[in-house]
Amino acid sequence: MDKIKQTLDYINSQTNDLKVDAAIVLGSGLGCFCDGIDDGIKIKYEQIPGFCSTSIKGHKGELLFCQINGKNCAIMQGRFHYYEGNSMQDITYPIKILKLLGANTLIITNAAGSLDKKYIPGDILAINDHINFMGTNPLVGKNDETLGERFPDMSECYSKRLIEIAKKCAKDLGIDLKEGVYVATTGPSYETKAEVKAFKILGADVVGMSSVPEAIVANYLKMKTLALSMITNYATGIKDNKLSHNEVLEIGKSSGAKMTKLIKSIISKI
Ligand code: HPA
Repeated sequence: MDKIKQTLDYINSQTNDLKVDAAIVLGSGLGCFCDGIDDGIKIKYEQIPGFCSTSIKGHKGELLFCQINGKNCAIMQGRFHYYEGNSMQDITYPIKILKLLGANTLIITNAAGSLDKKYIPGDILAINDHINFMGTNPLVGKNDETLGERFPDMSECYSKRLIEIAKKCAKDLGIDLKEGVYVATTGPSYETKAEVKAFKILGADVVGMSSVPEAIVANYLKMKTLALSMITNYATGIKDNKLSHNEVLEIGKSSGAKMTKLIKSIISKI
């Protein structure tokens, strides 16, 4: 709790105790969301006590406080990954901080691989459930009852209401928003063909290396969560292709504008 207090004190000293309405986590290649936002307060992760640092190409490593459509937003430009060697507790620590800064709504974004030809690179998919294939859970360890309960229910980890809002906003914007199940692996290697086949049989639609720990913690904290995947590639073996992180970043860039429009519209309705 001392660590949390230190983090909050530092952020509040920079933001003048700003109360956050909604928090957004931007994934690989989605940094363009913040282009044109010049009047916000930016804090580098490395300056925030308790935050680890991120080294991944395409992740800025900055927390931005700004107004979007009249709502006070805190935007994580880049996230922490388990595959970088951080603990599950460390990668989800910012979610606890965002909640304690006032955010009751969380919008998570990520880049994901498609497990089925019907999800095409460039598509956006609203995650309606997940399979945690990371082999661990961010809530493992001593529980702080002041934050949440020991055994949280997971029946609505992704808010049905927020998915409905997202669908309506997408329709108004002419965006074909898909919906489906995300399976999370630790990465950093991409999946084998056999794993991709297995994930399809298990009921997943897209695969990625993040977001699930954040969503589990957000659900534990009783935050209303919406998670949007930018489909950047077909997963291994779906088409005859090899995967590269650059390809993921390129699609993120070219379809980022669509994601940006959608999220801004959603924020105006929450
Ligand atoms: N697999 C895992 N993570 C990913 C992928 C993928 O194909 N694309 C983007 N993130």
